[in-house]
Amino acid sequence: MKVCVVGTGYVGLTTGVCLAFLGHEVTCVDYDAAKVELLRSGGTPIYEPHMTELLAEAAERLSFTTSYADAVPGAEVVFIAVQTPSLPDGNPDLAYLRAAAESVGQHIGAGFTVVVNKSTVPIGSGNWVDAILREAFERTHARRADGEFSVASNPEFLREGVAIADTLYPDRIVVGSDNPRALDVLNGLYRAILNQTFTPPTFLPRPDEVGAVPMVSTDLASAELIKYAANAFLAIKISYINEIGRLAGKVGADIIEVARGTGLDARIGPRFLEPGIGWGGSCFGKDTAALITTAGDYHHDMPIVQAAREVNLRQRRAVVDRLLDELRILKGRRIGLLGLAFKPDTDDLRDSPAVDIAEQLIAHGARVALHDPVAAQRFARERPDLAPHLCSTAEEVFDDSDAVVLITKWAHYLDLDWGKLAGLMRTPRVLDGRHCLDAARMTRLGYRYLSVGG
Ligand code: UDX
Repeated sequence: MKVCVVGTGYVGLTTGVCLAFLGHEVTCVDYDAAKVELLRSGGTPIYEPHMTELLAEAAERLSFTTSYADAVPGAEVVFIAVQTPSLPDGNPDLAYLRAAAESVGQHIGAGFTVVVNKSTVPIGSGNWVDAILREAFERTHARRADGEFSVASNPEFLREGVAIADTLYPDRIVVGSDNPRALDVLNGLYRAILNQTFTPPTFLPRPDEVGAVPMVSTDLASAELIKYAANAFLAIKISYINEIGRLAGKVGADIIEVARGTGLDARIGPRFLEPGIGWGGSCFGKDTAALITTAGDYHHDMPIVQAAREVNLRQRRAVVDRLLDELRILKGRRIGLLGLAFKPDTDDLRDSPAVDIAEQLIAHGARVALHDPVAAQRFARERPDLAPHLCSTAEEVFDDSDAVVLITKWAHYLDLDWGKLAGLMRTPRVLDGRHCLDAARMTRLGYRYLSVGG
């Protein structure tokens, strides 16, 4: 099928590259000319494992442009995957989505086109996008838009760092539209994933447990709500285990054992029960805020979702409180932070706990030493004010430090020579923000081992 993808961020690029890999003819459009140039030369603007290899494999069916006129006419499916950042009031900023919908509407050609909302948008946005498309189409084509296109919602569930595997081997595909013809087109588009009939990339073999993928075909509003309900549930799950973790710390229980013993109940499941300093990233914070705001429009409150957000912020404060308890005075202390990205295998810094914690420590007068094996360059660009605190190696972070906090569970940090590094510190003290170091081993190596709870 001929496909157009608007926006080459994590979601748009992954969608475009995977669909081209599966045999569709894909054109990706982005207003950022530098990004388009980079993609044309085989590079990628984001750090995502296997993206460069998949781009190379799909290259002959994949093109990049800044021009809607090159990308939209003739496409049977147009994905809109532009950013919807949070506004200060918790609502997503829909300005990019509006601009994209207008441009798509102006360029829709002959034949039936399904315009798919892939951006996470407030419930009801499908109808709003439809109205914008319709108006732009009718203004440009000087005729009614009846039957020319239909809007569908197809929320993404891909996690950064494993985005390609999540796209090729998803738990399910959700599509929502009030037009059965649009649902049929999307069924056809995703057939190879639904039936798992494609030959997997050599670098990403099909996991043994993956069979036929279920497709949830529903109405627009339900598809839009599924996305929020899923992300809010995952956020709640993490905050829940973190709340239990704090209690575990008080009663002397081991939160890792508690999480394991809880998650083995098939009704609960082990995933997203990893305790630590909580969630960050572009989705959970934004989506829980938007859900609460949407509910507010209907005079409906969401105390469980609200509590998950509060617990999450509390986890970040707990890091600083734990260091205060230990060191008594933070002023003048050197505190090393290992990891800046909101999670491993990405260079994404959005809503990263590390940034929050660094700011809180600086406000307490501490000297911070920051490091990330992948996201450091991006951090220097996005946070020039904090860039002077960056260290070029993880070893530098330990040098003369009073405490080191492990924030992001990069494999790089797990493989460090912790025994040797203890000798570099003023006082060997590690706060394990992800419960991923072996406490007994750390103690043997001379560290005072700390965690947030449990
Ligand atoms: C998330 C959703 O998982 C995905 O389905 C969605 O559509 C986009 O948002 P992503 O933000 O890329 O994906 O990362 P994810 O792997 O979900 O992790 C989110 C945050 O939760 C990270 O900060 C991670 O460190 C944290 N986390 C995750 C935990 O603290 N504990 C866990 O058990 C799992």
